[in-house]
Amino acid sequence: MKEYLLLLGADQFLRERSYAGGKAIGDFQIWTAIKNAKYQYNSYFDYCINANPLSYEELKNEIAYHKSQGYEPKAIVPLNDWTLKVANKLNQDYGLPYLKEQVIDACRNKNIMKSIFEKASIPTPRSMYFDSAVQLKQLMNGFNFPVIIKPVDFGGSGGVYLANNKQECMEAYAKSKQTMEIYADDFQVSKSEFLIEEFIDSDDEVSVEVLCGHNFYEVITVTEKYLSPRPWFTEMGHLVPSFRYKDTNIKDLAIQACKSLGITRGVAHVEIKIKDNKLYVIEAAARPGGDAIMDLVESSYDINPYRLHISMYINNEIKPTYAFTPRKTSAIAFMKAQKGKIMHIHYPDVSKDTEIKKINVFKNVGDSVTDPENWSNREGLIQFNWSELPTTKTYKHIHKANELANKIFDCSDAHND
Ligand SMILES: Nc1ncnc2c1ncn2[C@@H]1O[C@H](COP(=O)(O)OP(=O)(O)OP(=O)(O)O)[C@@H](O)[C@H]1O
Ligand SMILES: [Mg+2]
Repeated sequence: MKEYLLLLGADQFLRERSYAGGKAIGDFQIWTAIKNAKYQYNSYFDYCINANPLSYEELKNEIAYHKSQGYEPKAIVPLNDWTLKVANKLNQDYGLPYLKEQVIDACRNKNIMKSIFEKASIPTPRSMYFDSAVQLKQLMNGFNFPVIIKPVDFGGSGGVYLANNKQECMEAYAKSKQTMEIYADDFQVSKSEFLIEEFIDSDDEVSVEVLCGHNFYEVITVTEKYLSPRPWFTEMGHLVPSFRYKDTNIKDLAIQACKSLGITRGVAHVEIKIKDNKLYVIEAAARPGGDAIMDLVESSYDINPYRLHISMYINNEIKPTYAFTPRKTSAIAFMKAQKGKIMHIHYPDVSKDTEIKKINVFKNVGDSVTDPENWSNREGLIQFNWSELPTTKTYKHIHKANELANKIFDCSDAHND
């Protein structure tokens, strides 16, 4: 039998380096699963299974077929939230190392997660669950405004809204419900379950990548996060390492959050808000951070974190012996164009700019540019590297991305459309 590592969610923009991470582990083929793979085939992988990576049945059938052809999975590794459950269920079926279902449920459902945090005395914004307008109307009397309304198990800041008063609260709920109507089926998440949450009023936020194993936890890095203007919370930039990367309070809290949820394998991603020197865990995920944060870690630390993540699905008993030391700063900033319709896209010559690693333009001429509501309203990205490590919160990448967005995108005035 030939062994392969099946990486679920690997065939996704900004997850490309997972292939290299898997390859570095050993003599395994690296496979992924793609819906409609015959038409969508990605030849960077050694093989693409023709299955929706969220579908247990489709994956199971394909794995069985390939077993009959002499191929056997060594590990089935989830790279995003959506594939966590199915990957671990399959691992359990095949006698491979897995995370327990109750751990996945706690990591996927923010309501369960919050109750675990509260029991473990992990500071987190107070929140209440609701699934109807009647319930929300009652619950909002128990909160000071502003509040946050968010779906229980979505991501990418989809459906996360700030509300300053009761009316805005009901409007936020309506908008969040609309968002979930669009995405819930594809991502297999809930359309009807939401949280109302105390708002931590601060722009300071970090995410922490934690290497989790059996009886060991280690922080890989702390990432400084840059958000869109309110009332939205779209991630508009990330910088690795944050100037706070040695902060033991942040690192210890991130580890406590992972421990409390029972995450014992893989690289976990913990989001922490900082206000008046107090820390609040917003959420923790049992998979590596998205938005190219892993690429930033690789650039800054010379370590491919996907390799660590995948290796924990093979053996989580042995702690990898890495010293996580940043060598340089790596940052990403998403571009926002002026609101309106994109009339022209220019490609200014950036070949001499040694700090720019790459630029991706997501939109086309004719596309409309809207408010930065969630991940889908970003027009492009720029990835940077520079040699000095940060000592304070810098906005250099954000400013540079804004400058370039103005040069790249010509937009018509929204009012004239
Ligand atoms: N209670 C809160 N107080 C302050 N800000 C919050 C709160 N809840 C959420 N946010 C902001 O909204 C962002 C998105 O919220 P959250 O992480 O819960 O949703 P998500 O869709 O899982 O996000 P993502 O996938 O973008 O991390 C947070 O990173 C944070 O900036
Ligand atoms: Mg989040």
